[in-house]
Amino acid sequence: MATEAKVCPFCGGTGWRIHEIGGLSGAERCDCFKVHRAARLVESANVPANYTKASFENFSIVHHDKQQETRLVDSFKAAYDFAERFPQRTEKPGLLFVGPTGAGKTHLAVAVMRRLMQKGFESVFFGYQELLEKLKSSYDPAYGAALRESYQRALECEVLVLDDLGAYRVTDWVLDTVTHLITVRCNERRPVIATTNLVEGRADLTRKGMGGETDTRYLLGERIGERARSRLMEMCSIIRMHGISDYRERPVGR
Ligand SMILES: Nc1ncnc2c1ncn2[C@@H]1O[C@H](COP(=O)(O)OP(=O)(O)OP(=O)(O)O)[C@@H](O)[C@H]1O
Ligand SMILES: [Mg+2]
Ligand SMILES: [Zn+2]
Repeated sequence: MATEAKVCPFCGGTGWRIHEIGGLSGAERCDCFKVHRAARLVESANVPANYTKASFENFSIVHHDKQQETRLVDSFKAAYDFAERFPQRTEKPGLLFVGPTGAGKTHLAVAVMRRLMQKGFESVFFGYQELLEKLKSSYDPAYGAALRESYQRALECEVLVLDDLGAYRVTDWVLDTVTHLITVRCNERRPVIATTNLVEGRADLTRKGMGGETDTRYLLGERIGERARSRLMEMCSIIRMHGISDYRERPVGR
């Protein structure tokens, strides 16, 4: 592109390559444009510093416990396939990672968004708590506009990564806000990739049989509201990472 110090030899910095076939000329995007677009997307993706390197390449699927290894492999494959096939929407347009703390949900969610950005899709990361806090502060006229812009971006970006869904004190305002966000994105068929360590069950079902280290104190439906939960289920394939031990506590080399 023209902004670079070195002008691209293939397109002269225009971002377009002109080709002639049978006397007709056409234009197509130059590779340099795609590379720069991906770099710009990464810059504005809002990925937290400790996940900027998280990718499929450095996600370990090896585990000394074979049952856990199987779950890691299945989770990895489901996330990887989704990213590879995107935006082909044979199934659901989004993903929901469910499982205990340290299982690798956020790592895989970031790995997916990294791949989607390489493909040129705008993907933006928001911590659930951070997004709600920002929106709440936006009612303060002193710095409201910029914070409301964040929420607007969460509504409108091509792919929204919503991390730690449900991890916030429940109030009517929170439930209304989440319902609004999910409903708008669902109606527009805009993909959501979410992570949560809550059980994805309906708020009115019993809690029987929900073992593991998942946070069984609350159900997703209770924390984000039944309407948001229902829409999310309609939109997202679920990747269940139950029973995977906390990577943060794994002995080195395992
Ligand atoms: N299989 C893995 N291979 C390599 N690194 C991993 C793996 N699983 C997790 N990690 C790393 O361990 C840390 C914790 O993982 P991550 O944040 O993805 O967990 P989480 O499931 O989102 O947990 P929480 O519910 O607490 O948010 C991160 O630094 C992540 O990069
Ligand atoms: Mg996480
Ligand atoms: Zn070029």
